[in-house]
Formats: sequence, structure tokens, C-alpha cells
Amino acid sequence: MVKRRIAEILRSGQPDESLLIQGWVRTKRELKGFSFIEVNDGSSLASLQVVMNQDLPDYEANLKKLNTGASLEVTGVLVPSQGKGQRIELKAEMVKVYGEADPETYPLQKKRHSYEFLRTIGHLRSRTNSFGAVFRVRNACATAIHQFFQERGFLWVHTPIITASDCEGAGELFNVTGLNLKDIPRTENNAVDYAQDFFGRPTYLTVSGQLEAEVMAMAFSNVYTFGPTFRAENSNTSRHLAEFWMVEPEMAFCDLEGDMDLAEAFLKHVFKYVLETCPEDMEFFNQRIDNTVLETADNIINNEFQRLTYTEAISLLEKADVKFEYPVSWGLDLQSEHERYLAEQLFKKPVIVSDYPAKIKAFYMRLSDDEKTVRAMDILAPKIGEIIGGAQREERLDVLEKRIIAQGMQPEDLWWYLDLRRYGTVPHAGFGLGFERLVQFMTGMGNIRDVIPFPRTPQSAEF
Ligand code: 4AD
Ligand code: MG
Repeated sequence: MVKRRIAEILRSGQPDESLLIQGWVRTKRELKGFSFIEVNDGSSLASLQVVMNQDLPDYEANLKKLNTGASLEVTGVLVPSQGKGQRIELKAEMVKVYGEADPETYPLQKKRHSYEFLRTIGHLRSRTNSFGAVFRVRNACATAIHQFFQERGFLWVHTPIITASDCEGAGELFNVTGLNLKDIPRTENNAVDYAQDFFGRPTYLTVSGQLEAEVMAMAFSNVYTFGPTFRAENSNTSRHLAEFWMVEPEMAFCDLEGDMDLAEAFLKHVFKYVLETCPEDMEFFNQRIDNTVLETADNIINNEFQRLTYTEAISLLEKADVKFEYPVSWGLDLQSEHERYLAEQLFKKPVIVSDYPAKIKAFYMRLSDDEKTVRAMDILAPKIGEIIGGAQREERLDVLEKRIIAQGMQPEDLWWYLDLRRYGTVPHAGFGLGFERLVQFMTGMGNIRDVIPFPRTPQSAEF
């Protein structure tokens, strides 16, 4: 007997086909002489209706066991459905129950549950419609990302999770060894004099794979990373996780304009792919989560993003007739309320802000001729705020050394990174996309904890 996934049956199954399905009961409806069982196997939002006639072997005993959450296997024949809502249904010839789910204790019942409640049962929530849709869309986003870069000849490189460098210089590192750099002796050359043992020096969970991606870009021209990153920031917001996934392309022979062009084409591609491959899930989000989801996707795909400099953004914010909680002035970083005002209220589409003050940005960003700004860019999305952060990198050895020192870091600790500027340096640029923020943006989900299967936040790491 051919085993089939439910998504495929609903899409292309034909009457008289004999097949076998395996899945979990969503609902059961008992009628006189027969019953309907809605079976879901995670392949689609919609479930397949199974019709069980009372003349099936063990009909009564099986029916008693087939409550919401129970697992089963059905062998049968597809028949046109009489009811509305589905084209086809499965007439059961044999039903095997694998595992029961006691309705007295199983927490997922037919009613709608709040996301807060579902977060307390993280091991079961993926079985609901909402989380099914979120994780299928998450998978489609990841596929689209690989497709986009692979089609353009980018090499997927794997950068380390345990690292000795603080890429962002923001001090938001999870320390793996419990050692601190300032406590480790230095040699005459100002190198860290660590014990020969690997764990004799401070090491951290990576905040970004960028510096290592730069290493690889200097050999392969265009590369990207896609993996988990960690930030020990105590931000209890709906946009921050302690463990999140980041996509970081890095391109040799590329400037900031090329970087912005790539980022825009990239987001357009991912939205297009998801709309094409997950239409039911996207329709579900539009109906149930946020009724602007489809319009936003259409807007992203068909309209150019707004581009402006930080200096222009500040002057627009100063003129805004909105009372912001945080001050706006040249030299201060944009807060999420400012970012959202620009993207959500003023331009109503993604906004690329470039050329930020050097003082508020990381050491590796290329200093402009004005010596006040760096060639950085952030992409701000309506409802989310910053979704992408990127920059053209400082490729000049002397300028980079000065920037490292100015930020209180030791050039000797980044000797390998400086080597990239000593040997065959080129203008290069890249960016980092917060993968969960993209999934939030795509689905309209309000809380970042609900777009990753196992969220790590200051309060939650149950398993
Ligand atoms: O702006 P960030 O800090 O940039 C970097 O790490 C660069 N090294 C990237 C690069 O140029 N290769 O982070 C990039 C993105 C942010 O725009 C945001 O979307 C996401 O990562 N992000 C977070 N997402 C969830 N939780 C957090 N705590 C995040 N911190 C950053
Ligand atoms: Mg940033």
C-alpha cells in the first residue's frame, strides 16, 4: 500500500486511489452508523477527513480511542466528498490506533488557546494550526534563503559557535570558559598568553559569524552563513531572543550600494518564494493573525524600498509630530520606536537607513571621508523595526587598527582579522538578517518566541 502525505492528497488525490496515511486526530464527529475523523500529519494546515463506517473491524473500540491527539494509521480509498470544505475524503478500510491521548489530561482541545498558554506547553504547541503554519513558513524561508544564494554562486560556509572574538564589541557574550581576557597574562608582543589547553583562554558563544565569513569571502568571493548566534542581553521584548538564527552574506569586491541592492533582492525573493509555496499558511496568517500580511508581502515584492541616510532620518524624526519616549538627535542611536515610525507610519514600507555615526557603530565598519560616519546600513521593517544590519567593511589596515584601539580593543587579539587587510585586501561588504525577525515579519506573529520552536529567553529554557 502506498503511503502518502496529506498535503499531497488534498492537492492532487483522485477518487478510487487506494492509499495509507499516518497522523494525529484533530477532531472526531460521531454520527449514526459512521464517524468523521479529521487527521493531520503536519504537511498542511488542512486535515484530511476520514470516514469510518460502523461495519469496520473493531469500530466501537477504535472510535473510543480516537480522541484529539491520538495517533493512527488509515488504509482506504479516496472518494469525492459530499460535505463542503473539502474536495475529497478517505473512506477507511482499516484503522490502526498507535497511541491514545486521554481527553481528561491532554491539554490541546478543540477550542482556541492563547499563545501565552501554548508557550507553557512548548513540547505540544507545534501540533496546533498556528504553530504548524509558522514552522512550515519558517522552513520555506530557510529553503528560499539557500536557493537565493546558491543560485547566485555564494558558498555556504560554516562558522564556529565557540569563538574568542566579540564581533559586535557590545559585550553581550555568553562566556563558555568563565575566564576574562583582562585577567589573562600577555606576552611581550601583547599576545594573550593562554594555557596550551583550549579552555585556557576566554571563549564565548558567537554573537555573529561575520568575522569568519570575511575570512572565507577573501578566498571564495561570495559566501554566506546561516546558523545559530547568541546574545546575553537581558531584553524581555517581543523582538529579542538569547539564541537566534542569523543569515550573513559577505561579498568581496562590493561596496555599500551593492550590499543594499543584494539585501533588497534577497528579501523580495524570500517573500515571493513563501507566497508561492505556502499559500494556505499565508492566507491563514492574514485571516487569523494580522490582516495586513498579504498586502505587506505584495508591497515588499513589488515596490522599491525607501533609502535614506541616518542624517536625513534624524531630520525627519525631528520634524515628526509624534511624542517619542527617547530623544532624537544626531549622534544618538535610533530606538525601536523611531525605526517603527519611519517604516510603519512615514513610508509604510521597508526603509534602508545608511551612513550612521561612527561612534555608535562597530569597529569593522568602513569610515567615510567625513570621518564622522561609517558605511553602515540597517533595514527597518514595519511592525518589527531593525530586521537587517550590515556594512561595507574597513579594508584599510591603518584605519582599522585605529578604530579597534578607539573602541578599547587590542589589535593583537584580532591579528588574523588584520592579516586579511595585510594580504590581498579588497573592498567588501555584507549584512546580517535576524531569521526569526524575518519569520515574524512574514507571518505577522506578534512575539518572537512564537516563531522559533524552542525559544531561549531570560525566562525560558525548559528543555
Ligand atoms: O545588527 P546586528 O547586531 O549585526 C551583526 O551582528 C553583524 N555582524 C551582521 C553582519 O553584518 N554580518 O545583528 C543582525 C540582525 C539584526 O538586524 C536583527 O535582525 C538580528 O540580527 N538580531 C536579533 N534577533 C533576535 N534576537 C536578538 N537578540 C537579536 N539581535 C540581533
Ligand atoms: Mg544592528
